[in-house]
Amino acid sequence: MITVSGVELRAGARLLLSGISFTVSPGDRIGLVGRNGAGKTTLMTALAGHAKPAAGTITHTGDVGFLAQDSRAADPHVTVTDRILSARGLDRALQRLRTAEAAMADADGPAALERALNAYAR
Ligand SMILES: Nc1ncnc2c1ncn2[C@@H]1O[C@H](COP(=O)(O)OP(=O)(O)OP(=O)(O)O)[C@@H](O)[C@H]1O
Ligand SMILES: [Mg+2]
Repeated sequence: MITVSGVELRAGARLLLSGISFTVSPGDRIGLVGRNGAGKTTLMTALAGHAKPAAGTITHTGDVGFLAQDSRAADPHVTVTDRILSARGLDRALQRLRTAEAAMADADGPAALERALNAYAR
């Protein structure tokens, strides 16, 4: 859950948002709408904990994933799917699953297979 209380956001001296309070609960799907430069990305960056608001508080329970709007800094060899999954570290989890699958296929004997099956289950 993300709890936002009395938040104010600024870009330099310019006031973007003030008096913002809301909560985001597990399972919520929310669209954030505003004109270009209104402060949507600035708000998302603050929600993810990558920037501090000028005033007010933002608290989280649990991990918050964040997929940056600007993909220019992204690795061009990463697939679209992996980039989206990377917002919450799921690309690395998928990679570990693939490694565990290969270990199951390559297991030479029941003990090695047991270890590989346990690793895959974890
Ligand atoms: N690094 C920065 N330095 C100074 N001003 C900035 C910086 N980043 C953003 N701004 C300004 O802050 C304001 C809000 O920008 P922000 O990127 O949050 O808007 P946005 O709603 O996400 O816009 P868009 O719809 O174009 O994605 C804009 O006026 C922008 O020019
Ligand atoms: Mg933006």
